[in-house]
Amino acid sequence: MHILTRGCFRYNQVMRQIRLYGDPVLRKRAEPVAPSGELDDLIEEMFETLRESEGLGLAAPQVGISKRLAVIHFGLISEGGERIAMLNPSIIEKGEEQTRNEGCLSFPGLRLDVNRASWVIFEFLDPQGNRHRYRAHGLAARAVQHEIDHLNGILFIDYLPEAESKSVLEEWEKLQHKRKA
Ligand code: CO
Repeated sequence: MHILTRGCFRYNQVMRQIRLYGDPVLRKRAEPVAPSGELDDLIEEMFETLRESEGLGLAAPQVGISKRLAVIHFGLISEGGERIAMLNPSIIEKGEEQTRNEGCLSFPGLRLDVNRASWVIFEFLDPQGNRHRYRAHGLAARAVQHEIDHLNGILFIDYLPEAESKSVLEEWEKLQHKRKA
């Protein structure tokens, strides 16, 4: 099946810089991507960036690359320790919604309650071009939906009513300025 290197991480990988909210690449609809060994380095670097930032998932636009590619570390969610790189992922079926708190690496320090399907069936290609269909529940399902949103230029603040997202963003931006100062 599918996945990339299992087991140990390669610690010599370069960490990619994570694009923060305000970077226009986060609002673009990402382009479909063809399976290729040329993606290997990028994917490993995305996993390394994810590990360093202690995130669950990372989409290529978050490292400035507008391609339909995302990585998820299910190991942080389940005991399986499995991580997947998804090319051109799509949701086939989804369950009833539930509200849970989530974060996003492009909004450091911000946590929001977001309504999302409690389970999803999703499809994707692995970097070798094999098609997979998985079912995910709970936090894993949430991560899959969050990352696929990134590929469509959708951010988790978009789930808030407009007035609320505006005030949340103002607060977050103030916090960012303080961090930089
Ligand atoms: Co995110």
